[in-house]
Amino acid sequence: MGLASTKHAPAAPRDLFADIERLKRERNAVVLAHYYQEPDIQDVADILGDSLQLAREAQKTSADVIVLAGVHFMAETAKILNPGKRVLIPEPKAGCSLADSCPPDKFAAFKAAHPGHVVVSYVNTTAAIKALSDYCCTSSNAKAVIESIPRETPIIFGPDKNLGRWLMGETHRDLVLWPGACIVHETFNERRILKMMAEHPDAELIAHPECETAVLRHAHFIGSTKAMLEYTQKRTTQTFIVATENGILHTMQKASPGKVFIPAAPVDSRDPTCGCSTCPFMKMNTLEKVHACLEHMAPEILMDEQLRKAALLPIERMVAIG
Ligand code: 13P
Ligand code: SF4
Repeated sequence: MGLASTKHAPAAPRDLFADIERLKRERNAVVLAHYYQEPDIQDVADILGDSLQLAREAQKTSADVIVLAGVHFMAETAKILNPGKRVLIPEPKAGCSLADSCPPDKFAAFKAAHPGHVVVSYVNTTAAIKALSDYCCTSSNAKAVIESIPRETPIIFGPDKNLGRWLMGETHRDLVLWPGACIVHETFNERRILKMMAEHPDAELIAHPECETAVLRHAHFIGSTKAMLEYTQKRTTQTFIVATENGILHTMQKASPGKVFIPAAPVDSRDPTCGCSTCPFMKMNTLEKVHACLEHMAPEILMDEQLRKAALLPIERMVAIG
């Protein structure tokens, strides 16, 4: 007689969406997600937004726990603004090429070489860079932040040189630029975009200001992810070529189901989370990791209090302006 089989039936797959909703209720947690997150994460988010919206929501939330589905500097910013909350990040290794391009020791030397300058740093930086800054900004309010500073005051702007150059044109001011860039937005190339515009003559090109000048000069509209989304909703134009991270296409398509959105760089048709216009850091977060961090209440952002306080004022100015 053979032995009875000891094999168990495979466990039924968990409904992650329903389980995340349960955990959110049990933990009194809110999920804040950036537009560049994979579509499933966007769909479970309580708040979906660009960098500025997420910072503002993190500052005012009454939830006990914030899950920041974005990259590390976004979760760190949430913790700086609201230290009484537990801030969880699904994947703590989700960094940012812009933040990495600006090491604090080198930036401190750059600042020392430009005495008398006010420092405006893009929010895509570490807390140590924010602590060296007078103001932070995002692409949504960078122009308003620069314009809030008296015209005669010289300004250092970092770390994104493309955004900095665009701001120089918008504000008609000279800025001393740190030479950083975003690996995703630098991928878009003028030749390919011109070819796409020729293939889709009725389309409008919309671009994020982190793109290079050669791309931006052809754009019908330049703005932050939120501004681009709103632009596509209010225009009667039916087709848009989108020069930013491809995660935003999910929300654009949901907001305007009848319109056509074409990514400005190739995306893998079998896997929308992979392509030239995909941020590899943003896509390190998955629905499974969102679920796991709510279940285990980790990984959590913990910060040195002195560093947090040093980084707070420039971020508070950012949240208040524009
Ligand atoms: P915004 O969310 O401000 O548009 O910035 C884009 C970005 O690259 C975030 O990492
Ligand atoms: Fe950083 Fe660019 Fe990724 Fe945004 S898209 S997180 S700027 S690397």
